[in-house]
Amino acid sequence: MSKKLFIKTYGCQMNVYDSERMTDVLAPIGYGVTEDPDDADLVILNTCHIREKAAEKVYSELGRIRPLKEQKQSNGGRMLVAVAGCVAQAEGAEIMRRAPVVDMVFGPQTYHRLPELVARAVRDGGGVLDTDFPVEDKFDHLPEPTSQTGVTAFLTIQEGCDKFCSFCVVPYTRGAEFSRDVASIEKEARALVAAGVREITLLGQNVNAYRGQGPGDSSWSLAQLLTHLAKIDGLDRLRYTTSHPRDMTDELIAVHRDVPQVMPYLHLPVQSGSDRILDAMNRGHSADEYRRLVDKIRMARPDIALSSDFIVGFPGETDRDFEETLRLIRDVTYSQAFSFKYSERPGTPGTALPQQIEEHVKAERLTELQKLLNEQQIAFNQACVGAKLPVLFEGKGRKPGQSIGRSPYLQPVHVAAKNDLFGEIRDTQVVAALSNSLSGTLCTSEVTS
Ligand code: SAH
Ligand code: SF4
Ligand code: F3S
Repeated sequence: MSKKLFIKTYGCQMNVYDSERMTDVLAPIGYGVTEDPDDADLVILNTCHIREKAAEKVYSELGRIRPLKEQKQSNGGRMLVAVAGCVAQAEGAEIMRRAPVVDMVFGPQTYHRLPELVARAVRDGGGVLDTDFPVEDKFDHLPEPTSQTGVTAFLTIQEGCDKFCSFCVVPYTRGAEFSRDVASIEKEARALVAAGVREITLLGQNVNAYRGQGPGDSSWSLAQLLTHLAKIDGLDRLRYTTSHPRDMTDELIAVHRDVPQVMPYLHLPVQSGSDRILDAMNRGHSADEYRRLVDKIRMARPDIALSSDFIVGFPGETDRDFEETLRLIRDVTYSQAFSFKYSERPGTPGTALPQQIEEHVKAERLTELQKLLNEQQIAFNQACVGAKLPVLFEGKGRKPGQSIGRSPYLQPVHVAAKNDLFGEIRDTQVVAALSNSLSGTLCTSEVTS
């Protein structure tokens, strides 16, 4: 590798996956990853547009990169600076106007064209913009993953969103829903397993809306895909995220009961517990429908751990609406969750709504909501103390002699172990719970220290 590539990734897991694919596509033209932007020949910021703060981070990072680029130039070198991802898609050429340090702006659907875009930037001295939604399928043109080194991996199977929740930019930044075909997903999964991966998380903005081409002219659901991938030898664990309540079919719920490789953990965002707000958000279901769905899922897999996303302070949200959200959280009980203050996003219908909520009200509601969610998370972790859980070990902990892995419920678990447990699934006795993790001892005594 003669040239150095620095990639910084913001936002969701799909961006993490995309950054790995960009690394793979740039390797054949001589770019190797560096952890240090100082001396990079190509800097890519893979950005997120979901909330105002996420988008603003890009501009502050560009401010930090500018002197590095100038320094390199004054030493006779050259640094190309690129903005990729959802801010690139949403703001396009505006980014180059606002931050002249940027040479290239390209959206998530163009990563297979990167070698050509980089060549153009080198030749023309910057000014490259590509935010098309090309007709060709980028997945057909991206090389097989080669940058994989861990025992867990992400695999994007679906992109885009047709749901148009009134607060959300994703349908605009990622475009219409698109599902990859089963054969290409299976090929990629097998390559990952051959490289040592034991757990794959299937990704999509609306992963359970997956409808991909199966053998012949058949169209496969996520349930069929999971059942099929579970047959791959050496693929011990499957997860998928993010799911929409409206696409949580009985067939998919049954997979949680019938396919042991599918882990008992489900991220099922509800956003709010108030029917009025759910309606204004265009979520397409009521709070009680969500409760009934959760009951059905727990009937199929009683130990399933549930997680969610919440937005507080959506326009028009009253104290009473907010109370409804707290009530729903108490009814469902989550093992963990993410929560955010509503952030006005340009171009989304939410921005035009009257009754935007004051910042201090959003902050108070968020604190109260997070307190409740945190209590539930701690209670969930504490309920695991004394249990024996299979843990997939992913790496070393912060303390010497410590290994870290994940439980089926996605909790980080650390144990003291003499041997390197990387890549092993071991039964672990949980002895203590912290708010964000568990500590345990291996059930076979000879390797514990
Ligand atoms: N596809 C997923 C979520 C994608 S975005 C779904 O349908 O649930 C991840 C989370 O960011 C959302 O679930 C939502 O809670 C949050 N989010 C999205 N837009 C937001 C906004 N404008 N303000 C605050 N939070 C937002
Ligand atoms: Fe955004 Fe709603 Fe689509 Fe999720 S379902 S990506 S929140 S528009
Ligand atoms: Fe952000 Fe784009 Fe993901 S807006 S959350 S990086 S799909």
